[in-house]
Amino acid sequence: MPLICLGLEGTAHSFGAGIVTSEGVVLANEWDMLKPSQGGIHPREASRHHSDFGPSIISKAFETADINYRDIDLIAFSRGPGLGPCLRTTATMARTLAVKLGIPLVDVNHCVAHIEIGNLESGFDDPVTVYVSGGNTQVIAYAGGRFRTFGETLDIAIGNMLDVLGRHFGMPFPAGPIIEKEARAGRTFYSLPYSVKGMDISYSGMLTAAKRLFSEGIPIPDICFSVQETSFGMLAEIAERAIAHTKKKELLLTGGVARNNRLTEILSGVSERHEARFHRVSPSLAGDQGAMIAWNGILQYKSGHEIKISSSHVLPKWRTDEQDILWRK
Ligand code: ATP
Ligand code: FE2
Repeated sequence: MPLICLGLEGTAHSFGAGIVTSEGVVLANEWDMLKPSQGGIHPREASRHHSDFGPSIISKAFETADINYRDIDLIAFSRGPGLGPCLRTTATMARTLAVKLGIPLVDVNHCVAHIEIGNLESGFDDPVTVYVSGGNTQVIAYAGGRFRTFGETLDIAIGNMLDVLGRHFGMPFPAGPIIEKEARAGRTFYSLPYSVKGMDISYSGMLTAAKRLFSEGIPIPDICFSVQETSFGMLAEIAERAIAHTKKKELLLTGGVARNNRLTEILSGVSERHEARFHRVSPSLAGDQGAMIAWNGILQYKSGHEIKISSSHVLPKWRTDEQDILWRK
């Protein structure tokens, strides 16, 4: 009998409940996102969204999967990194269900989950991963028992940069998809600060310069086009160097910004040049959702890992490379 895991995700603006089997079949993946009417995400409001809507999202997942609460074998939750109030609300739901059902609880690193759901989908064994989202921008590869960060942003994450720029233009949250659409109509490339420092990158200078172009009356499609080409170009450079250094033969693109088709095109070009296989995580599994937490929960549980309720406090600053990856040893 395959194991069935319920995974709860709630690190930031989205709350998700996913149900996945130990054979890697996604039985349900329900989620909902807080969309602030103005400004960024307030942690208190996002956690309130999770406590208000979490229970109904969880029951919807059971309906979709067409199973009962008693059919699940374990519960996984996103323990970090993320916003404290959101993590605590989600962890409380996971603990309550685990105690009530008398089943094991597994704590999952959100970033590691973004990588492993990509490996499940692609069948990749050992890729260089480009993980791009609202809160993270990292180039990661497995080495010596952990997912090591080979390069990352030194200031803001790429998704955050796109959302902040979009807000400046008056676009609603999340602005990433709207910027992608606008960029397709861009014709003129304006040079913006291109900041690669060794294996790390920086986006804040580019953001400031892009805002300045807007105040000078440059059309939004041209700014979006220039921002995408510049920011994606920086990522491609460090991803390419990671492939060249590690000699890995697979390149995986994951996280919410992986939904971007232009970024996908650029990185698939990088992998072609290095004769590496390329996979972009499909849109429904790219952003924050519970299926990736459930799948990672299964990997961890099968490698003998579960957590006691008494030590399941959340870890808002838990880095990708701070977790021992027991199932790959
Ligand atoms: P994390 O906690 O991993 O940092 P997150 O909370 O940012 O994740 P995700 O759903 O992984 O959540 O990513 C959301 C981000 O993805 C937003 O910044 C959004 O603008 C961006 N995004 C979504 N679609 C696109 C797109 N087509 N092009 C560019 N960016 C996109
Ligand atoms: Fe995420």
